[in-house]
Amino acid sequence: MRFRVLLAAITLAISSHTISPFSALAFKHTVKTAQNVEKRPVETHHPIGWRFTMPKGDPAKGKTVFEKFECHYCHEVRGEQFPEPVESAPELSQMGGLHPVEFFAESIMNPNAVVPKTYRDADGKSPMTNFTEKMTVKELIDVSAYVASLRPKGAPKTVSAEGQVIAIVSESSEIVLSHNEIKGFMDAMTMGYRVEPPSLLEGLKSGDKVRFTIDVPKKAIVKIEKGPVLAAATSPQPAQGSGAAGAEPQKTVVGEGKVVATVPNSSQIVVEHGEIKGFMEAMTMGYPVDPPSLLEGLKFGDKVRFTIDVPKKAIVKVEKIK
Ligand code: HEC
Repeated sequence: MRFRVLLAAITLAISSHTISPFSALAFKHTVKTAQNVEKRPVETHHPIGWRFTMPKGDPAKGKTVFEKFECHYCHEVRGEQFPEPVESAPELSQMGGLHPVEFFAESIMNPNAVVPKTYRDADGKSPMTNFTEKMTVKELIDVSAYVASLRPKGAPKTVSAEGQVIAIVSESSEIVLSHNEIKGFMDAMTMGYRVEPPSLLEGLKSGDKVRFTIDVPKKAIVKIEKGPVLAAATSPQPAQGSGAAGAEPQKTVVGEGKVVATVPNSSQIVVEHGEIKGFMEAMTMGYPVDPPSLLEGLKFGDKVRFTIDVPKKAIVKVEKIK
C-alpha cells in the first residue's frame, strides 16, 4: 500500500543515512575518446522521479520457487501447507500489505540491507541464506511477486473517508485531498490519489467537501460523493512523518517536482514530486511551508526544487527551476 509505504519510507529515511538529494539531477561528464583527443559531453541523467521497478512476476510460479529453495526451512506462511520451519524468521502471510515488491526483492538479493534487531547474528548480519548464486532473475521476480501477493484473508478491500478537495489534476486523473485520519489505514494528510474512472473528477472543484472510497488493491479512489459530510473535514493537515523520535534524524532533504496547488489559508503547498531517495516515494502530497511567504509567486505547473526540514515536517526553502 502506497500509504503504509510512505510511513515506512520516512521511518527508513530516518534510520538510514543514505540520502542523495541530487540523484535526480542531470550531470554532465566529459569523456575522453580512445585516442584521448576529442572530448565531448555525455548526458548520464535519468528522468526525474525514476525509481527501480520490479517487472511483473507470477505469484503462482513464485510459490514453486519458494518450495524449490526451501524458504519454509525458516519462514512460516500461515495458511500454506509447507513443512514446519526449523529456524526462526519472520512469518510471511501478511507481508504483501507491508512493503513494495522491490523491498522483497532486496530482502532476497541482499538480506543484509535491512535486518531487524531480533534476527541479527552475533556479527550483526542477517542469518538468511544468500541465494544470489543459485536463483535465476526470473525466479527472483516470481518469488518476490509471491511474497507481495501474501495478504491476510480478512483485509478490507475498500476504505471510506471524508475530506476536502485541494486540487484536481486532470492530466494524470488525480485528485488532491486533505482528509482526516482514516482509522487503521492512514494518518490525516493532504495527498494525491489516482481516480478510476477519471470521469469521477467531473463537476468537482477545489474546496468541495467529499466522501470518497479507496480501493486498496487498486490503489485508487473508485467513488466520490459531494457533501454534506458527516463530520466536518479538517483544514489541511501537516504531512505526518512517523518515527521522528528516531535517533539522529536526517535534518533536511531536497526534492524536485511540480506545483499542483498552493493553499495560502493553511500555508501549504501541494507538489507532485519524484522519489526523494532514501526518504519518500514519488507522490503528490501537501506540505506546510515555513515561513508562509515562500508561497508568494508560485503557481500551478511551476517546476520547483524544495527543501524539507524533517524534524519540522515543513518545506523551508523553495526555488523555481527550469
Ligand atoms: C536460513 C533461514 C532463511 C531462509 C532459508 C530464508 N530466509 Fe528469508 N529471512 C530469514 C531471516 C532470519 C530474516 C529476517 C532478517 C532479515 O531481514 O534479513 C529473513 C527475511 C526475509 C524477508 C524480509 C521479511 C521482513 O520482515 O521484512 C523476506 C521477504 C524473505 N526473508 C524471503 C525469503 C525467501 C523468498 C526465501 C527463499 C528464497 C527465504 N527468505 C529464505 C531467514 C531465512
